[in-house]
Amino acid sequence: MNPRDEQHPTAATALISARGLKKSYGRTEALRGASLDLRPGEILAVTGASGSGKSTLLHCLAGIVRPDAGSVAYGGERLDQAAETRLSALRRGDFGVVFQFGQLIPELTALDNVALPLLLSGTGRRPAEHQAGEWLERFGVRGQADLRPGEMSGGQGQRVALARALVTGPRAVFADEPTGALDSLAGEQVMTALVHAARESATAILLITHDAQIAAYADREVWLRDGAVHAGSDDAAGQEAVRHEG
Ligand SMILES: Nc1ncnc2c1ncn2[C@@H]1O[C@H](COP(=O)(O)OP(=O)(O)OP(=O)(O)O)[C@@H](O)[C@H]1O
Ligand SMILES: [Mg+2]
Repeated sequence: MNPRDEQHPTAATALISARGLKKSYGRTEALRGASLDLRPGEILAVTGASGSGKSTLLHCLAGIVRPDAGSVAYGGERLDQAAETRLSALRRGDFGVVFQFGQLIPELTALDNVALPLLLSGTGRRPAEHQAGEWLERFGVRGQADLRPGEMSGGQGQRVALARALVTGPRAVFADEPTGALDSLAGEQVMTALVHAARESATAILLITHDAQIAAYADREVWLRDGAVHAGSDDAAGQEAVRHEG
């Protein structure tokens, strides 16, 4: 076990707590005992080389991929053991997910893509479209509201995906390289909007990025190597900052 684990908050204070996650794809061991806590309202950056298991870790934490071993706890609930119906309900309400590779619905406009999670959870069409429009505005893509994903740039699609992840007011957002298709100025604008949204509603954000400038927006940073999580050098300071804010 990583000795730095002692410094991690205990499961009781974490929003989501993963311990000893293992996940293999054939002979590839994507995760080999990864442990991580996401605390309420914190922005946590996860970095690491390509293929180190970042996306797999995010998918396990969000209940999209079931680990082969280890546990994922959300409050008192074991997500690694939860039924699919429960996991999809969590992804419609408590969690927002931004996948690394495009996942907007191609037949729907940007506005309808963002409104969809609200419609699925019972919000009426007019308020859903109103809220969707406001979230597009916050991420600078209101002008693209009527475009379908195939008609948008990669960066515009990423902003729409972030708007969709946040529109339901989730407790946690899992964002996999959400600024990967943006230049540095646009990336900073998107991060400013994301941090603002997170602070306003105490939403925890797990942010995968390979960009140090993007990771600098986080309260805390960890890195993955060979399928295990290592604390960043500023981890203790980062946790201190979160504690003071909370
Ligand atoms: N569905 C899958 N089927 C087979 N192998 C997979 C699958 N998903 C991930 N892997 C493998 O697991 C390892 C970890 O993949 P993962 O996508 O988690 O890495 P990553 O850190 O997100 O990489 P990147 O920075 O390139 O996105 C890689 O070797 C990858 O090839
Ligand atoms: Mg990845």
